[in-house]
Amino acid sequence: MATRLQVNLGERTYPIHIGEDPRAEIARETVAATANGNTAAVLTDENLRRAQPSLFEETFRDLPCLVLPPGETTKSFGHLETVCEFLAGEGLDRGSTLFVAGGGVIGDLGGFAAACYLRGIACVQIPTTLLAMVDSSVGGKTGVNLRAGKNLAGAFHHPRAVFIGTDLLATLPEREFAAGMAEVIKYGLLADAGLFEQLIRLGRFGPDHPELPAIIRRCCEIKAEIVAADETETAAEGGRALLNLGHTFAHAIEQAAGYGDYLHGEAVGLGLVLAARLSQERGSINREEAQLVKELVECHGLPTALLSPLPMSRLIEAMRRDKKVRGGRLRFVGLEAIGKAATWNDVGADLVVWLWKEAGAA
Ligand code: NAD
Ligand code: GLY
Repeated sequence: MATRLQVNLGERTYPIHIGEDPRAEIARETVAATANGNTAAVLTDENLRRAQPSLFEETFRDLPCLVLPPGETTKSFGHLETVCEFLAGEGLDRGSTLFVAGGGVIGDLGGFAAACYLRGIACVQIPTTLLAMVDSSVGGKTGVNLRAGKNLAGAFHHPRAVFIGTDLLATLPEREFAAGMAEVIKYGLLADAGLFEQLIRLGRFGPDHPELPAIIRRCCEIKAEIVAADETETAAEGGRALLNLGHTFAHAIEQAAGYGDYLHGEAVGLGLVLAARLSQERGSINREEAQLVKELVECHGLPTALLSPLPMSRLIEAMRRDKKVRGGRLRFVGLEAIGKAATWNDVGADLVVWLWKEAGAA
């Protein structure tokens, strides 16, 4: 049964529709978006276009559609220009809507294009990976990567609505589903011990599991609450930065390894293991709890150590460029307990080096 949540942001409040088959609701949204002579367009990638033909042929029908190559390298200024030129070529104006259908790569790029084009047009997010359903489509963070690091150029631009349909996950490769599970585990760890226990009880499961829609809903609920309270991540402590649990490590891994070796969610999985070990070393969770985190990450086939020994200097350098750095000090998200995260500004460099070594850094 379809349910609805809201991201409460005053005038910019928007709904998240969660159900199995989102096609009818999306089709209604396209009709609304093109009423009164307004125009709309669709952005997607080649894999989704091939895997879900009916979404395009029956739901988006004759809306102009730009299909980009899949993969993290598509989240670039070059492709941002391609999208903006496409929108201009199709004559989209300030009353137009961009429908963004895909994983986090297309979602971040399309959201940023909608933020830039004509200094901002409406977008509707249709996440089609588990990671995008529970994280990237909600909260308005959009952007592209720079050579200097991931997501270093972007804007906050919230969608007008998000449509989540779990049926779309049927065609998602198993490895991508597992990568999304890393973000799901993240929510249990940072805000909901009950969700963490549920995940331990379920072990590895796939896109057709009957508990999945409720799990996705719970993740979106947590994210919506955090975003509503600290929209632009400016809280001095805690706040939206908590959503980056595991990500200081993960972004360093992606940056040091180069995009390709690790999917984002895979790096996050290992980042969660390291965040749990950090919390154990500081005494806020115990050895058994840190071990449970590792086992849960492992059971989804996600890495719990570096796949090859990345150079320590590259990892540390990448961490220094993390967006959470303030006044030169690294800010980590750690666990005060399972289900309760906090931001820490006082993590010693020695401990970080030691944790990287334990994970296999050279
Ligand atoms: P992705 O967008 O690369 O999608 C993964 C793969 O699945 C791609 O090959 C894609 O073509 C394919 N695919 C997508 N949906 C499919 C479907 N239903 N069936 C078959 N194939 C399908 O990767 P992702 O993991 O979704 O997103 C990762 C990106 O999200 C990273 O760039 C990360 O930085 C970003 N991100 C952003 C936020 C945010 O708040 N904006 C949060 C988390 C992650
Ligand atoms: N994915 C982290 C955030 O949206 O803030």
